[in-house]
Amino acid sequence: MREFILRARTAKTGDFDINDLPSAGRMDIVCNSVSNALNIANKLREDTVMHVVLEGSPEPPKIISFHGDSIKGMLWDEKSIAEHIRNALLKSKGQSMKKEISKGHCHSVPGPSTLKVAEGLFVEKKSFEALVKEKVKEGKQVVYLHQDGKDIRETELKKDIVVVFGDYIGMPRATEGLLDRLGAERISLGPKMLFAAHCILIVHNELDRRFG
Ligand SMILES: C[S@@+](CC[C@H](N)C(=O)[O-])C[C@H]1O[C@@H](n2cnc3c(N)ncnc32)[C@H](O)[C@@H]1O
Repeated sequence: MREFILRARTAKTGDFDINDLPSAGRMDIVCNSVSNALNIANKLREDTVMHVVLEGSPEPPKIISFHGDSIKGMLWDEKSIAEHIRNALLKSKGQSMKKEISKGHCHSVPGPSTLKVAEGLFVEKKSFEALVKEKVKEGKQVVYLHQDGKDIRETELKKDIVVVFGDYIGMPRATEGLLDRLGAERISLGPKMLFAAHCILIVHNELDRRFG
């Protein structure tokens, strides 16, 4: 299973205008990334899940997950993807985060806070950090895409992999520290700074070459 986690730091978590995606906290980046993660010629990538962590107003954070093996009835142009995201956000309005107190700290936990809004489409009230920690706990290889990381061509990649990356703003410093502590290796896709949506295609291509 390939999982991508895009951190969309300004993308709206409530209603937005599907005719003006850049003004919805760069929802255009989110839609292009979703398309590149799941859509290939003539079929979908059934081995892939795309998680988008939306951190814009009014109810951040929210994670929308698109499952390639079960999503149905989706057209893959920007506007259609945006319509699905908008519907998911409207259906999950007011969704609350499940909290757990441990050692005096309050943090979110995975579980019944997940809302299935359509076949293969889920919304969860959870933070980027909580999702990444969950993947590490599941024993997955987690890698962080970073221009100055180790060349992807020289890196051992597992078939079951979780790939995290930032949007136009990039990853906050504190989160980079957390990713280091969690053992997420920094992987470079080459010397140029790329768009988030482009990174997905390169990673897919590398994994396709190794695992078919
Ligand atoms: C448009 S870039 C972010 C630009 C942002 N201003 C910054 O400086 O981080 C979006 C994301 O793509 C990934 N990325 C872009 N170019 C890359 C490269 N050459 N190698 C690895 N990851 C890259 C990084 O995760 C980055 O956060």
